[in-house]
Amino acid sequence: MTEKNLYDTILARSFGKNDQKRLGYGAFIASLLFVFTLCTVFKPYLSPLPIVELQLSVDAGLRMLRITEPQTLKSSNNATSEEDAAEKLIIPTNQINITSNATITQSLISSEVHELSVFNDTNLLKNHLDSFNSTTNTTISKEQVISDQFKMEKPICHKRTRTELCEITGDVRINGKSATVLAAIEFPFSGDSTWRMRPYARKGDVMAMNRVREWTVKLTQNADQSENANFSRCVTNHSVPAMLFSLGGYTMNNFHDFTDVLIPLYTTARRFNGEVQFLVTNKNLPWINKFKEILKNLSNYELIYIDEEDETHCFTSVVVGLNRHSEYFKELTIDPSNSEYSMSDFRKFLRDTYSLRNAAVATTRRRRPRILILSRGRSRAFTNSGEIARSAREIGFKVVVAEANTGVASFARTVNSCDVMLGVHGAGLTNMVFLPEKAVVIQILPIGGYEWLAKTDFEEPSKGMDLRYLEYKIAAEESTLVKKYGRDHEIVRDPSAVAKRGWETFKSVYLVQQNVSIDINRFKPVLFKAFELLQRE
Ligand SMILES: *[C@@H]1O[C@H](CO)[C@@H](O)[C@H](O)[C@H]1NC(C)=O
Ligand SMILES: *[C@@H]1O[C@H](CO)[C@@H](O)[C@H](O)[C@H]1NC(C)=O
Ligand SMILES: *[C@@H]1O[C@H](CO)[C@@H](O)[C@H](O)[C@H]1NC(C)=O
Ligand SMILES: *[C@@H]1O[C@H](CO)[C@@H](O)[C@H](O)[C@H]1NC(C)=O
Ligand SMILES: *[C@@H]1O[C@H](CO)[C@@H](O)[C@H](O)[C@H]1NC(C)=O
Ligand SMILES: *[C@@H]1O[C@H](CO)[C@@H](O)[C@H](O)[C@H]1NC(C)=O
Ligand SMILES: *[C@@H]1O[C@H](CO)[C@@H](O)[C@H](O)[C@H]1NC(C)=O
Ligand SMILES: *[C@@H]1O[C@H](CO)[C@@H](O)[C@H](O)[C@H]1NC(C)=O
Ligand SMILES: *[C@@H]1O[C@H](CO)[C@@H](O)[C@H](O)[C@H]1NC(C)=O
Ligand SMILES: *[C@@H]1O[C@H](CO)[C@@H](O)[C@H](O)[C@H]1NC(C)=O
Repeated sequence: MTEKNLYDTILARSFGKNDQKRLGYGAFIASLLFVFTLCTVFKPYLSPLPIVELQLSVDAGLRMLRITEPQTLKSSNNATSEEDAAEKLIIPTNQINITSNATITQSLISSEVHELSVFNDTNLLKNHLDSFNSTTNTTISKEQVISDQFKMEKPICHKRTRTELCEITGDVRINGKSATVLAAIEFPFSGDSTWRMRPYARKGDVMAMNRVREWTVKLTQNADQSENANFSRCVTNHSVPAMLFSLGGYTMNNFHDFTDVLIPLYTTARRFNGEVQFLVTNKNLPWINKFKEILKNLSNYELIYIDEEDETHCFTSVVVGLNRHSEYFKELTIDPSNSEYSMSDFRKFLRDTYSLRNAAVATTRRRRPRILILSRGRSRAFTNSGEIARSAREIGFKVVVAEANTGVASFARTVNSCDVMLGVHGAGLTNMVFLPEKAVVIQILPIGGYEWLAKTDFEEPSKGMDLRYLEYKIAAEESTLVKKYGRDHEIVRDPSAVAKRGWETFKSVYLVQQNVSIDINRFKPVLFKAFELLQRE
């Protein structure tokens, strides 16, 4: 992982109005500074193998077992809650039947995915975990396994690249006041019995995670004993499973709403077929209202703001956190090799939920294709959208100009009725999730080093949605920054040099606003290309 990448991750926030409003300008800048401070501390976490993650294949079911390599972790950084959580939380169960040697292989060692793959047949066992040497492959012999009297381990909490989640069945009691999930385990167990986590699927992003309430998952043999007195009475017994997740983090930024919450929520909740109780931590009424249709279609029950609950809620099955199936730098995507659902399932779900008619672009041979020009209000706005619209009409498009500030349901219908969506880099482009397949997305890149973000946030995701992608990078003259700073200012001449200076980047790229005045002659070929793509097949 390079500096650049780390840096870009942090850059990957595109803050919407609400974020800035909520934080206030000063706090916003302070928090950006805070991220930079943390970066140094945080960096080792991203270096190879601070955390050893092992995936076990036990009989039929795949189980994940997560272990920290303690020396590496302690020596490389001082734990934030993120790292504190890197304990193992496993439930030993019965004796096991050993049928062959177990081999721990190491893979992806230098990639950002700290996952060791896998071995078959036997179980990896506790005593050996402590002595496990992560720089070599280790084979544990059958005899060794037996002599050590290993126990079968049933992990309940997992770490994945961008999320953590616990899946607990049994007697589970949830207390909102103290942010505790208590799991009563009947049989004796050893090892750590608590796990701290923040149930928001953007692990590794310090600023986001700081805005997420921390929860403790605690195993106990006796849920009714005095140290658990606060949990002992189940005031409400629920008959369906629960899912506990946060609406803190970067919610209310449309991009983050989808990539951090809605897609993970869908892949985690869909299998319950509505028979699941949502427990929301970090209550966020505007968000709940914004996405009420989706929430309603994923859960048949009125959601509970668990932070406000004095009394304990009891369940027989609980998922804490949202599963996010993606590699570190992948957004708006579901890795199909890891999930029973695909991005195409998610998009179909959205179409069903919002009654969107167009699954794919219909032939444009006998009609004028529709282009949606996404306008933005405050920054990165088109100063000449009228001219763009005229030019598109000349080419043969029907033009819709709209800003994504109406309700989601109505905007989703607008987007779904179009064949092309054109917009400047920003959270509004996330609305591509509503486009029919084979539609064309045109992303406009302002000046100032947006390339990596543009690719990660929208270009790559568009491919996973079966969309066609075109890009237009504006020339310096097309940015209002030229008017403001002059042609010779460094930010105009060499934005990447500015970007290298760290903190300055935020000032120049994000906080200094620019609008975009498209040079129609230069841009026209892109519109032609979009038109032509729609004629094909
Ligand atoms: C980490 O903690 C140790 C002891 O708690 C302290 O001596 C050390 O300075 C800390 N390091 C950093 C980078 O904060
Ligand atoms: C172990 O294997 C034997 C024979 O295959 C089987 O009868 C027994 O039930 C197994 N025990 C467990 C705990 O799976
Ligand atoms: C570990 O196992 C993997 C997969 O079997 C293999 O590719 C790799 O070379 C092994 N590494 C060592 C150090 O033996
Ligand atoms: C276990 O893994 C080894 C090597 O990866 C493979 O040759 C063997 O067939 C596997 N055994 C089972 C039971 O899957
Ligand atoms: C782990 O294995 C490597 C390679 O064999 C060795 O150099 C290193 O000393 C070992 N580390 C520990 C802690 O055993
Ligand atoms: C299991 O490990 C032992 C000791 O390392 C070795 O002698 C034996 O051949 C291994 N068995 C298999 C099936 O790999
Ligand atoms: C139980 O709750 C009370 C009040 O909220 C708190 O003061 C006390 O520390 C809690 N006890 C335990 C064991 O958590
Ligand atoms: C909830 O279930 C527990 C265990 O089955 C029972 O002891 C308790 O009385 C129930 N509470 C309510 C309010 O029904
Ligand atoms: C909910 O989603 C399913 C598909 O996931 C769809 O069949 C159904 O029509 C949707 N229901 C509502 C009320 O939106
Ligand atoms: C960009 O355009 C918007 C809307 O017209 C305006 O409010 C804003 O001040 C402009 N910003 C810059 C930097 O020109």
